[in-house]
Amino acid sequence: MLRMVNIIEKKRNGQTLTKEEIVFFVEGYTAGTIPDYQASALLMAIYFKGMDAEEQAHLTMAMVLSGEQIDLSEIEGIKVDKHSTGGVGDTTTLILAPLVAACGVPVAKMSGRGLGHTGGTLDKLESIKGFHIELTNEAFVAQVNRLKLAVIGQSGNLTPADRKLYALRDVTATVDSIPLIASSIMSKKIAAGADAIVLDVKSGDGAFMKTAEDARALAESMVAIGKKVAKKTMAIRSDMSQPLGYAIGNALEVKEAIQTLKGKGPEDLTELCLTLGSQMIVVGGKAKTLPEARTMLVTVMKNGAALKLFGDLIEAQGGDRACIYDLSLLPTAKFEIDVYASRSGYVTKLDADDIGTAAMLLGAGRATKEDKIDMAVGIVLKKKIGDVVKKGESIAVIHSNREDVEHAVSLLQEHIHIADEVVVKPPLIGEIITQ
Ligand code: URA
Ligand code: CA
Repeated sequence: MLRMVNIIEKKRNGQTLTKEEIVFFVEGYTAGTIPDYQASALLMAIYFKGMDAEEQAHLTMAMVLSGEQIDLSEIEGIKVDKHSTGGVGDTTTLILAPLVAACGVPVAKMSGRGLGHTGGTLDKLESIKGFHIELTNEAFVAQVNRLKLAVIGQSGNLTPADRKLYALRDVTATVDSIPLIASSIMSKKIAAGADAIVLDVKSGDGAFMKTAEDARALAESMVAIGKKVAKKTMAIRSDMSQPLGYAIGNALEVKEAIQTLKGKGPEDLTELCLTLGSQMIVVGGKAKTLPEARTMLVTVMKNGAALKLFGDLIEAQGGDRACIYDLSLLPTAKFEIDVYASRSGYVTKLDADDIGTAAMLLGAGRATKEDKIDMAVGIVLKKKIGDVVKKGESIAVIHSNREDVEHAVSLLQEHIHIADEVVVKPPLIGEIITQ
């Protein structure tokens, strides 16, 4: 008979756990028959001794099987999901979903709200008047078959084991273990019904992974899990040492997304979407090579098909599609306040995390689950790393519904660094990791 104490000892000694042992742990902990103290000890042993790809795949699937799994089998084609490890001003889902769907890959997206600097994808979409994110499973499937695209809130009891383990990791200093993060993320994507997965693993000040080495290791772990569980998976490492694009805030990011779908978006955001989108089209089986996929994406951006599909999505889910042609129909803040450069020079650093915090303090994000988001507010940067700045020039615009924004102004002045020497721009896209 399996005993938890032996499993802990085995991992403590650096040995490899079997599938049976991992399943025993996950099932027992979820059911409450294994206590927190033993689960904590095992998590700490995993933190120090690691897990090989096989063990990570078993952990992933045990967590998938701990709860409901979304059945997308009624949707024709390969269902591709994308996951980003998160950053500041990351609007990619709003752009990628219609872009990729316009190339024929079905996008059945379940998104979240979450805590942080701005709302999640669902919050951003809800800044569009009338847009609703609740569809029955049948309506969801029917919409994806009709339009190739639907974005809804997560329903059902997905990966309860991950939820319970994550809460325990949070209070036992075992969150930042790459095998645990990799299996946590992959379990959620698989339970949500993905056939194939594209991952955007970010590194830098504004990201979960602070160094490129850690981000690469996480990406490699997730791609290896995908291979073991027969889900086509590709990953990129991307830079999050400065916010993505210029806009940080809910309606502000929807506007930026619409501009990007029109081919008039910020260079970095556009490039990231084309890179991730190409991978989604390749794993979705609609193109053989990444360059071929990229050409398809550029075409639907140029000919307006992706923007039209975003309009169709809005209309299908109760919103007013007119906003894609008239951005003034989206929520707008009462005040726009410029932040001025205190000296001349070059922008050398934008502390993504602190700039995100400034947006949150304006009301763009939630600090606790109960907080209400102000859709209209946020920050629009005017400078990115490497740009020239003149003293007294506007470097950012604060969109606020309150006149008193001194705190945000000083955060921005402190965290948009200006110096005499020009620095090398950090490359946006790091390596591509494939199976
Ligand atoms: N995000 C996740 O979903 N899981 C982790 O373990 C860490 C970050
Ligand atoms: Ca942005």
